Amino acid sequence: MRVVVTGGAGDLGARVVRVLSARGHEAVAASRRSGVDLATGAGLDEVLTVADAVVHAATSQRTPQEVDVAGARRIAESLRRVGSAAQVVSISIVGCDRIGYPYYRAKVDSERALEESGVPATIVRATQFHSLAAFFATAGRIGPVAFALGDMRIQPVDIDWVAERLADHATGPRPDGFTRATDLAGPTAYTTRQVLDLVAAHDGRTPPRLVRIPAVGDALKGFSEGRILPGPDTELGGQTFEQWLETQPRPLPRRFHSPT
Ligand SMILES: NC(=O)c1ccc[n+]([C@@H]2O[C@H](COP(=O)([O-])OP(=O)(O)OC[C@H]3O[C@@H](n4cnc5c(N)ncnc54)[C@H](OP(=O)(O)O)[C@@H]3O)[C@@H](O)[C@H]2O)c1
Repeated sequence: MRVVVTGGAGDLGARVVRVLSARGHEAVAASRRSGVDLATGAGLDEVLTVADAVVHAATSQRTPQEVDVAGARRIAESLRRVGSAAQVVSISIVGCDRIGYPYYRAKVDSERALEESGVPATIVRATQFHSLAAFFATAGRIGPVAFALGDMRIQPVDIDWVAERLADHATGPRPDGFTRATDLAGPTAYTTRQVLDLVAAHDGRTPPRLVRIPAVGDALKGFSEGRILPGPDTELGGQTFEQWLETQPRPLPRRFHSPT
């Protein structure tokens, strides 16, 4: 199959491209660096002409309404224009509809854009990737002290496993219309304290003292009240946070993305 992967050079998208290629499919990475701009629609018709499926993994933290939302709409419009029956598999976030954080609202809007478009589409929601869990807990670390949301629990997921599941959907049966796949999460939930301790043990450092920052505003409240945690019907899989840490450099770089 020929599968176009938007954001195919990104953290998740590059992995989806790798998985599809390893399975013998033709995976085409589509993003600005390959001449496809979802914020304008440039290059979309050309790349989607002979697509059997599309994985929408492009995103912009800064302009999600342009890339994640309008981008989803443009993909659907382009598929219609070129007469393609390809399905769109789009990645979203567990709990995005329960948290008033602009980026999460954009994920909900992106899901809705595909639902309203009428093209065959599958939404796959995943929890935060392990790299983001580490970032949440460690971004506020200053020397021996870590400023973080003390009450937060997070059930992060293995990005490579999510990429496998997206590839499964893209190459699987085409849905009749819009559908939500089973949510994806890692096997274990962790408190902020546990993430801090695991990262400190990984780095060979003394665990920092946790200074709890107040959960002010709906977004932080949502995180600290567990609205990002998966529900009972979630598919659990992939590496645990501990197993993922074993694969990471020491000390763990304090960055948002994992190396692809
Ligand atoms: N991080 C997490 O914990 C997490 C958890 C669950 C779901 N997700 C979802 O996973 C998806 C992928 O996230 P990621 O971390 O892999 O993102 P990423 O590494 O930041 O990659 C984003 C990609 O989008 C492309 N892009 C940005 N603007 C574009 C535009 N105007 N037109 C076309 N392409 C554009 C970029 O390529 P160019 O620069 O070449 O354009 C890049 O390849 C997102 O939808 C995110 O919401 C993430």
